[in-house]
Amino acid sequence: MKKIILDCDPGHDDMIAIILACSSDEIDLMGITTVAGNQTGDKTFINTLKVLTLINRIDIPVARGFDKPIFRKLTVAPRIHGVSGLDGADLPEPNIELLERVKTLDIHAVDFIIKSVKESDEKVTIVPTGPLTNIAIALLKEPSIKDNIDRIILMGGAVYDSNITPASEFNIYVDPEAAKIVFESGIPITMVGLDVTNKAILTFKDIEELNNLQGGVSGVIAPLLKFFAQANKDFFGIGGAPLHDALAVSYIIMPDIIKTKYLNVTIETEGKYTRGRTVVDVYNITGKEPNVDVAFEVNSLAFKKLIKNTIKKLDQR
Ligand code: RIB
Ligand code: CA
Repeated sequence: MKKIILDCDPGHDDMIAIILACSSDEIDLMGITTVAGNQTGDKTFINTLKVLTLINRIDIPVARGFDKPIFRKLTVAPRIHGVSGLDGADLPEPNIELLERVKTLDIHAVDFIIKSVKESDEKVTIVPTGPLTNIAIALLKEPSIKDNIDRIILMGGAVYDSNITPASEFNIYVDPEAAKIVFESGIPITMVGLDVTNKAILTFKDIEELNNLQGGVSGVIAPLLKFFAQANKDFFGIGGAPLHDALAVSYIIMPDIIKTKYLNVTIETEGKYTRGRTVVDVYNITGKEPNVDVAFEVNSLAFKKLIKNTIKKLDQR
């Protein structure tokens, strides 16, 4: 069982990442920290509380983080996730007890990450699935936490693919300076980028199958995923819902689900047209030391099965 902290910006695919992290026997979810990205910080925070309420996991600690990148103005993604960040169905309002506990906890995401890592009796895996602002600031504020972080398994970047610009992936693009701090931290990193996550898809047929279950969880998740799938089809021509963030979490549950190569990755922070590009040295042209395990292959069928089974099990709880 791995102790993890999930840092996210729900977001439809973040929602599935939360569901996986809460449901797997392989994961000890220490807490969820939220960051602005797919939508503004207030919305990604509330969306997280709504998802935990839906799956009845109001025991999970939640701490809200930054509402904007370190230097740049915030970029959100309403075309893909809608105005709420989770358009497509009405999630339950956050459970009052959970809201009260979060208010009592009253800790910033950065301080929650620092405190949790420092106090953990075993090394912690950090799983960022949004812009890396919280992680970068935590590393700057308390560098010693590096000694108790086993690995950062992040959804972000790409070797050849892109989405927010022709050169970059959204999470890295939003806060490239934060990404640079994380990628240069010396902490072991697994980069689960678009090259594999755009193959980790629930098709419209898969989503219809979930919708037909009409369970307490599937009945809400299915229309949300249908909205997300339609947005991805309309904008990128993808044949369903690419569950980017859920693949990063599934790698903890099933380490064979992706194959990686150990390569040098640098982050472009200055390019006029290439801001946020993860520059992956596939052929070791620079001769620079590798620093990232980069995902190149994915077992899409195993992934799809994991997602469906997890949602079906939650219906039965
Ligand atoms: O580029 C995809 C990533 O950006 C995912 O994490 C999605 O949720 C958005 O945050
Ligand atoms: Ca995300």
